[in-house]
Amino acid sequence: MLNLTDWEERLRPSPRVLAPDLVEDDNQGRTVDIVWISFNMEPKVKAPVPSNHLPEHVAIIMDGNGRWAETRGLPRLAGHKQGATAAQHMVEVCAEYGIPYLTLYAFSTENWNRPQDEVNGLFQLLEERLDKGISFAQKNGVRIRHLGRLDGLSPRVQAGIRRATELTQNNSKMTLGLAFNYGGRDEIVEATRRVVLNGIPAQDIDETVISRYLYTAGIPDPDLIIRTGNETRLSNFLTWQAAYAEIYFTPVMWPDFDRKEVDKALIAYGQRQRRFGSLAQE
Ligand code: FPP
Repeated sequence: MLNLTDWEERLRPSPRVLAPDLVEDDNQGRTVDIVWISFNMEPKVKAPVPSNHLPEHVAIIMDGNGRWAETRGLPRLAGHKQGATAAQHMVEVCAEYGIPYLTLYAFSTENWNRPQDEVNGLFQLLEERLDKGISFAQKNGVRIRHLGRLDGLSPRVQAGIRRATELTQNNSKMTLGLAFNYGGRDEIVEATRRVVLNGIPAQDIDETVISRYLYTAGIPDPDLIIRTGNETRLSNFLTWQAAYAEIYFTPVMWPDFDRKEVDKALIAYGQRQRRFGSLAQE
C-alpha cells in the first residue's frame, strides 16, 4: 500500500515510457524516483553541438531546490528530492551525449550550517539514491568518485559512499564526481598537508604535483561549470580546478533543469572561444 506524504503524492510522476522496455516506477512504494535509463554509452542521442565542441568535463552547482519547493508551498526537502531526480537525469543526458566527466555539487562544507532536519534529509536522500545509482553505474560503465571529506559524515553515509566508489572503481566509460561534504579551499588545504606529510621537497612542488593531491586527481579540470538558481558565484566549488572553466549561469531552478536546459548550456559553451590566456586563433 502506498504511504506517501501529501507533497510526495503531488510530485509523484505519472507513468512515462523512458525506453521501449522501461516504465517509470509509478506505484511500487514511497518513491518519487524514476527508473534509470540504461544505455551503452556510445553517444546514441545526438548532442546539440558537434562532439568536438562538447565539453569533456561538466561540473554543476545544483542551486534552487529550496526556492523551487517554496514557490510550490512544499517543504524544502521536496525540492531536494526533485533535485536528486534532476541529477539522475543529468547523468543520463551526459552519458547519452558522450560527455565523459560529470561532477555534481551535492553538499558543501558550508551546508552544515543549515537546519539539522535539512542536513539529515540530504544525507538520507543520498543513502536512498545511492543503491540505484550504483546499479546504474555498474550496468553502464560509470565510475563514481567521491570528492570531499568522509570524516564528519555519519557512518551509514560513509559506508554508502565507500561502497559506491569501491564497486565502481574499474568502470571506465564515464566518471561521476560526487562532491559531498566538499569545499574548494578545504581541498587545497588538505592537499597541501598531504604534500608536506609526504615529504615532497619545496623545489619539486608545482601545479602538477598539487593537482595530484586534490580530490579530483586524475580528472581533467572542468571545461564548463553550470550554476542554476539565479546566483552568479562559485561558492567554493572546484576553486583550483575552475581556473579556466567557462561558467554558465542560469535563472532556472535546479529541479527544472532538464534536457532542454542542458542543450542551451552546451550550445552556449560551443559558442565560447577558449583562449587559456593566449590570443584568439585566426
Ligand atoms: C542547493 O539548493 C542545493 C543543495 C544544497 C543540495 C543539492 C542536492 C541535491 C540536488 C539533491 C541531492 C543529490 C544527491 C546526489 C543525493 P538550495 O537548497 O540552496 O536552494 P535555495 O537556494 O533555493 O534555497
